[in-house]
Amino acid sequence: MAILVTGGAGYIGSVTIELLLAKGEQVVVLDDLAHGHRVALPADIPFYQGKIGDRELVARIAHEHALESCIHFAALIEVGESVIDPARYFENNAGHGIALMGELVRAGVRRVVFSSTAAVYGDPEVIPITERSWKWPKNPYGWSKLFMEQLLQAYDTAYGMKFVALRYFNAAGATANCGEDHKPESHLIPNVLAAALGQHRAIRVFGNNYPTPDGTPIRDYIHVVDLAAAHIRALEHLRSGGQSDFLNLGTGRGYSVLEVIKCVREVTGREIPAQIEPPRAGDPARLIADPSRARTLLGWEPAVSDLRSIVNSAWEWRLRHPSGYAES
Ligand SMILES: NC(=O)c1ccc[n+]([C@@H]2O[C@H](COP(=O)([O-])OP(=O)(O)OC[C@H]3O[C@@H](n4cnc5c(N)ncnc54)[C@H](O)[C@@H]3O)[C@@H](O)[C@H]2O)c1
Repeated sequence: MAILVTGGAGYIGSVTIELLLAKGEQVVVLDDLAHGHRVALPADIPFYQGKIGDRELVARIAHEHALESCIHFAALIEVGESVIDPARYFENNAGHGIALMGELVRAGVRRVVFSSTAAVYGDPEVIPITERSWKWPKNPYGWSKLFMEQLLQAYDTAYGMKFVALRYFNAAGATANCGEDHKPESHLIPNVLAAALGQHRAIRVFGNNYPTPDGTPIRDYIHVVDLAAAHIRALEHLRSGGQSDFLNLGTGRGYSVLEVIKCVREVTGREIPAQIEPPRAGDPARLIADPSRARTLLGWEPAVSDLRSIVNSAWEWRLRHPSGYAES
């Protein structure tokens, strides 16, 4: 029996596959490689290049492999781009997601682990954020994810499709083999590392007038290895007959943009000029998870998510791949 991993050639997907294979799991990957990297995966892994919205292809994969579950990472992830081109986001993340889930139901797959996001909460009034906090996304990306959560809930009620929707906060860090290489890159840590390598003249800091101690936004960074481990636990929860659920994945501790830059300066020993720019529309001041529900339900604890370990691992990967996977 195999696990279908959609978006498995992407950042979090490739790390999760590394951990799944180490546990001896059978994995089949579906990725259109619009943003993923085939070289991030072992050459001999069953790999289908195509869209999750291609119903014939999904049906063929289900026919060729006995699928027992799906870990669904595939999505477009750029918040800013989703504001400029919402149709692309709703079509890709929600439209293709509907097709994928329809074919999985048809194929008898009843376990799904879904990549959701802290973006479903929008600009939260209360910190830390619990799963019960008010959900009102501030951009089409967040809405496309909240839509998929609603779909999964309805499919559980109607078709017995059990799921765990994992709401990640800020994924960061790397393993020895797999790291973060988004093009374009909108995430802070890889951009500060690129500035450390002289690939950007300076790191752009969007706003320093937020109601936070140093005026820059605060985020909850979670090591990609801890995220990957949570997927495996979520799958085990479903395999042992557990109910569907929504879980925050964060540490419960936040760092400001300036604190992250300071940490990268310490780890890399490089001077990194920072340039203050106007705040971006819709950037909340603070996003910090209350991760206690994941701890209770899955027995999951972030093990390597202190900021220094995150930055260290990302820097080591970046030094080996200065231009990302293209140069590897
Ligand atoms: N990176 C983060 O900090 C973060 C935070 C919250 C949630 N997430 C979610 O986690 C998931 C993975 O994020 P990531 O950082 O690894 O992104 P990524 O862009 O590296 O990976 C996504 C992968 O999905 C593939 N893909 C996209 N649309 C597809 C489609 N229609 N059909 C087939 N393949 C498709 C892309 O080619 C890519 O390989 C996403 O769903 C994202 O929304 C990420």
